[in-house]
Amino acid sequence: MKILIIGAGYVGLVSSTGFAEMGHVVTCLDKNETLIANLRQGGIPIYEPGLEEMVKRNVRAGRLSFTTDYAASVPDADACFIAVDTPMSADGKADTSQVEAVARSIGHSLSRYAVIVTKSTVPVGTTEIVEGIIEEILRQRQVSFDFNVVSNPEFLKEGNAIQDFMKPDRVIIGVDDPRAAALMKEIYSPFMLNHDRLLVMDIPSAELSKYAANAMLATRISFMNEMASLCEKMGADINWVRKGIGSDDRIGNKFLYPGVGFGGSCLPKDILALLRQAEEQDCSLSVVEATQKANHRQKGVMTSKLQAYFADFGGLHGRTIAVLGLSFKPDTDDMREAPALVLIQDLLRQEVKLRLFDPVAITKAQAILGSPTTIHWCSSELEAAEDADAIVLMTEWKQFRLLNFQALFQVMKGRAFFDGRNQYKPEEMAQRGFDYICIGRQAAYSATTYEEIPLSSSIKPH
Ligand SMILES: NC(=O)c1ccc[n+]([C@@H]2O[C@H](COP(=O)([O-])OP(=O)(O)OC[C@H]3O[C@@H](n4cnc5c(N)ncnc54)[C@H](O)[C@@H]3O)[C@@H](O)[C@H]2O)c1
Repeated sequence: MKILIIGAGYVGLVSSTGFAEMGHVVTCLDKNETLIANLRQGGIPIYEPGLEEMVKRNVRAGRLSFTTDYAASVPDADACFIAVDTPMSADGKADTSQVEAVARSIGHSLSRYAVIVTKSTVPVGTTEIVEGIIEEILRQRQVSFDFNVVSNPEFLKEGNAIQDFMKPDRVIIGVDDPRAAALMKEIYSPFMLNHDRLLVMDIPSAELSKYAANAMLATRISFMNEMASLCEKMGADINWVRKGIGSDDRIGNKFLYPGVGFGGSCLPKDILALLRQAEEQDCSLSVVEATQKANHRQKGVMTSKLQAYFADFGGLHGRTIAVLGLSFKPDTDDMREAPALVLIQDLLRQEVKLRLFDPVAITKAQAILGSPTTIHWCSSELEAAEDADAIVLMTEWKQFRLLNFQALFQVMKGRAFFDGRNQYKPEEMAQRGFDYICIGRQAAYSATTYEEIPLSSSIKPH
């Protein structure tokens, strides 16, 4: 099967490579000429574990190539997947302008039967709009070719994208024509050898399934974040509450971890886009609205905890804070809507000096934050901790699980450790000498009192 994937970002590049790995002949197209030139030279634009080797293997095997040329690639394809970005517009709706631009480009180059697939996350009705655009362009060209549109939303998770794509929990196909359904089944048949996980449904249901899934996931996170706040106030421990509820089969134990709010390129934009779609239908989604509000509040949780801690010692102004982890979650360099950005911007406003470290996301973070003199970019956890009044862990990279606490403690000026991801045991952290403040569990403080320590220039010596 010859497949064209339009968009070479997180979804487009992973899908292209995954389809090629299964034996399809794939062309991956992007309008960004530099990106395509780099890909042709073997440069991978995103960090995704395992992706680079898989791209190289499939390029070498002649199953994967890159282009910017619609006219050369559309006529050759049995299926054209649209995997371009659908960012949040100013009014919160999904901006589908690039999906529509791609539809126009396909319309101008189509010269035989093909299936046109919306893989981007798009509001209900968009796949039909794509169909209308292509029909209109064909009319203008005064040509007539059969084609079908299909909705095939993508559910991969950044950081685990290859595994998710190669072994999906399910593949949703929204379709209204048997020929297109058969072609889609053939495309996905290598993924279904052990277990058929293909769900064929109508197009609006497929489009809505993606938004509903993300809204449900976001709701679980916001629910747990609110429970965590209640635990802190009531002397309970969210870890026990999580285990207590997650052991119920009806609830399940996944996606029950409280933290610093959800970010990334999908959940925040998709729940807002869903709310806008519902508003247009005069349909209230009060649960989703509450989820979004709770998340907005949660993204400020570490700033509030820092302010509360330092309030007794002259405030945050002028302090040095180390931040470990910048990307919105581990195993990705994606900084879109990352909670760390909210914290960093809050702290910059309060004239805090920042020492920032992330294993892979520094370049993307620099592109967003620029280079204010109050930010020092660090190449290790230890460098970040030097002279810091506090460490704040924002992303639970695996390499942070076993930190060299003794070394960190020695190079720090203060002793506060704020853990936004509940990675450590409070009592152990206190024994190591830290004041440990986490999420939904009681904070644990070092046994040493400030009065026992001779005050140096720092208000928080150890
Ligand atoms: N990133 C994820 O984890 C994820 C998961 C599931 C679904 N999605 C959805 O998939 C879609 C793509 O997301 P992404 O994260 O891969 O985006 P991305 O920003 O990483 O990549 C999009 C790519 O499309 C290219 N592009 C834009 N307009 C184009 C055009 N007219 N012609 C050719 N190329 C064009 C851009 O240059 C860019 O390289 C979005 O709708 C997103 O919501 C994303």
